[in-house]
This record gives sequence, structure tokens and C-alpha cells, in this order.
Amino acid sequence: MKALVIGSGGREHTIAWKLAQSSKIEEVICVPGNGGTADEAKCKNMNGDAVEIAKNEKVDFAVVGPEDPLSEGIADKLWAAGIPTVGPKKQGAALEASKDLSKVFMEKYGVACAASKTFTDKKGALEYVKNHGAPIVVKADGLAAGKGVVVAKTVDEALKAVNDMMDGEFGDAGKKLVIEDYLQGVEISVLAAVSVTENSAKTNKACIKAFLPARDHKRLLDGAKGPNTGGMGAICPPQDVTEQTMDAFQKNILEPTLRGLIEEKMDYRGFIFFGLMLTKDGPKALEYNVRLGDPETQAVLPMMDFDFADLCLAITGETLSDFNLQWKKGFQVAPVAVSGGYPLKYPKGKEISVDSAKINENGAKVFVAGAVKNESNALVTSGGRVLACSAHGSSFDEAWKKAYSALEGIKFEGMFYRKDIGLPGAAESN
Ligand code: AMP
Ligand code: GLY
Repeated sequence: MKALVIGSGGREHTIAWKLAQSSKIEEVICVPGNGGTADEAKCKNMNGDAVEIAKNEKVDFAVVGPEDPLSEGIADKLWAAGIPTVGPKKQGAALEASKDLSKVFMEKYGVACAASKTFTDKKGALEYVKNHGAPIVVKADGLAAGKGVVVAKTVDEALKAVNDMMDGEFGDAGKKLVIEDYLQGVEISVLAAVSVTENSAKTNKACIKAFLPARDHKRLLDGAKGPNTGGMGAICPPQDVTEQTMDAFQKNILEPTLRGLIEEKMDYRGFIFFGLMLTKDGPKALEYNVRLGDPETQAVLPMMDFDFADLCLAITGETLSDFNLQWKKGFQVAPVAVSGGYPLKYPKGKEISVDSAKINENGAKVFVAGAVKNESNALVTSGGRVLACSAHGSSFDEAWKKAYSALEGIKFEGMFYRKDIGLPGAAESN
């Protein structure tokens, strides 16, 4: 079979690598891919319109990595071209693209989450904040590249966030605001496979299957300090997540979400990412993402002890409920190396040296994100988050030591990484 992977990040390199391990897969076409997929076994990078490439190359199925093409309806176009696609259609993708819509959905179907109110008038929003008091959370409705959320500790901070967003800080994304109660706790990410279609209410085949939980580390510096980033490293599974937490998540978040997708008659065949806060009253949903997380994918997919191509086919073919998710024992740790200066200004084109012996002796895998091959076929940086070094261990300690030891085999000018991914005090909490 031939698979198509759309996207150019570390998540997409990981998806392509995992697909390539399947004996069913002859070729993985990555559009556009990156410097990692360029060198990956069975993988080939191509530039151009993904739907045209999928048709011309006669791929058997497609996997869409990032949210932007999904919210623009790429899954609708691929299905219309006869290509089974892992990734929700536009209607489902709106669960990430609009915070208001996702909160309306959560409340309608009884998904455990923070109480909230939506505003389109500034006066009403300011009034609400003053009456409510702090802490309080102000969210721009639309996609704002991960920057549209202000967790305000004071009323003044919240009022400023309302003013800035409604005055157009994020363009139209902030014309509508969701103002939400503050939740105290530690965060985790649960990624899951989803197979729901318009006919699911009749066929009884609808299913969401959760993967092992994971945790991202979004702040730049050790101890969860410094500015927010796209993610500085992930672990799978976090040791503090109990079976009781996962049972509560299943009952109070996953199952009501599934009921909602069925009742709304969505064609949602893809992945969903539950951003959760573990509060003293149990897990609460912070958000849905309509895709796999990055860098969570780099820690979760290597833990899979099943064929990822089979999973994709079960999702698109509505046989997910019969699919058995088997997991490796132990832990996966994946710290991310970034360009010096990230998340602000950073240089590009820095040559990356990779000591393969050092990586291999630790059994680690390098997943490339912001790096490409230059004209001399050297791997050079092209983005802020450059790569993740992912390693497995039967204990958390072993996985951690292997990942960090392997990372010492990677060098580029300005390279920076957190030294505490997965350690106590490293997780985002409030
Ligand atoms: P979101 O994009 O909605 O996940 O929000 C981004 C980040 O803001 C989350 O990862 C949390 O760290 C924080 N956050 C969002 N909503 C809340 C809330 N209700 N209470 C506390 N922190 C929150
Ligand atoms: N790791 C967070 C995200 O993918 O949005």
C-alpha cells in the first residue's frame, strides 16, 4: 500500500516512520515532509497540492497531521477524490478552530469542563470579568497559533486581555471571546483514535479509543518557567496518572464526546487530542485538538505495539471497535532541541551534526521537526523546534537517561533544550 502524510513537523516525521514499519506499506509520500522524512526508509518527500498528489500517486489512504488544512476542509476534498483519509472533515475540525463551538459542544453533551460564557460585545465581557473576579481565563475564539489564551491572576490582567483581544490583537480570532473559570491542577494530554460517520447512530460502529496518556512541557525553561512554546518535550505515560483518573476521563469526557459526535452526525474519522486538567474533582477537558499532539506524538507512537497502518484502516473503515490497541511496557521520553532565541527570533540554516553511534547505543530515535536537507544534502535547521530525541526504557529513569544521553550526540550552533522533561516540578500546573 501507498500512504500519504500531510505536514512538515516532528509529528509528521513520527507518523511516517511508524507507517513505514508496517509490512503492508511500500511507500509513504510526505507532502511536503522535512529533512527527517527525506531520509526515512520507504519515505519520499513531494511538494505541491496534496489532493493532486494523492490522486496522481494513487495513494491508498492519507493521514493529515496539522489542524490548518483540516479546518480548511482538506479531508472533505480527499474523501471526495475517493481517498480514505485519517483526519476529520471541516465540520469536526471546527471543534479546534472555534473555542466557543467546542465549549457549546462540551456543555451540550455533558463533558466535564470549566464553566464558561461567550461574548461578542466588549462591554458585556468587561462587566462579566469585574463581577466574576480573578483568577479567570480569557480565550480568543479562533485559531491564534497557541497564543490566544490568557490565564489572568488579577482582574486588571483579565480586563487588559479582553481589551487587547477585542481590539484585534489576533484579528478576527479575538472578535469573539470565551471567558472561563480557572481550573487548578496539573495538565496531561490524551490522544485518541476516532471513527464516527454520519450514519453512526444507525450502524452502532462509532468508537473512540484512547492512547496511553502523555504530557507535553510547553514552557521554554526548566521548572516550567519562561515563555510558552510549541512544546519542549513529551513523556508517555506520566507516572502520576492513575487508573482511576483514566476511568473518570473515559466516563466523564471521552464517552460524552463520542455521544456528541454521533448526535451531531459528524464524519469524524481521525485523531482527537483531549487537553485535560487533573483537578481535585477529577479530570476536566480544557480543549479539543482535532489531530495528534506535537511533541506528544513523538513519545506516544513509539510506545505502540501494533501496526499503525492497520489502525489508520480501522479508523477509515469503521472497524475501530474491533481493533486491539497493544502497548509496550515501560516509558518513552522525548526532549526537544530548539534553535537559540526560540520562541522569538532565531537563525536558520545551521548545520546539524548527528552522532548516529551515540543515538543507536541508546536505542533512541531522532524525529526531525524544523530541519531540512540543503543543496549539499546536509541537515540544516529551518525552524524553532528542530528535533526530538525519543528513547524507551523499562523504567522512567532508564528512558530519561537514554533520551538525554542520545541528545548529547546532536549538535548545532545555538542548540538549546530543557534538562528536566518528565522530572518532578517540570509539568505545567497552577
Ligand atoms: P487551551 O488552548 O484552551 O488548551 O489553553 C492553553 C493553556 O491555557 C492550557 O494548556 C492551560 O495551561 C491554560 N488553561 C486553559 N484553560 C484553563 C482553565 N480553565 N484554567 C486554568 N488554565 C487554563
Ligand atoms: N502539544 C500541544 C499541541 O500539539 O497542541
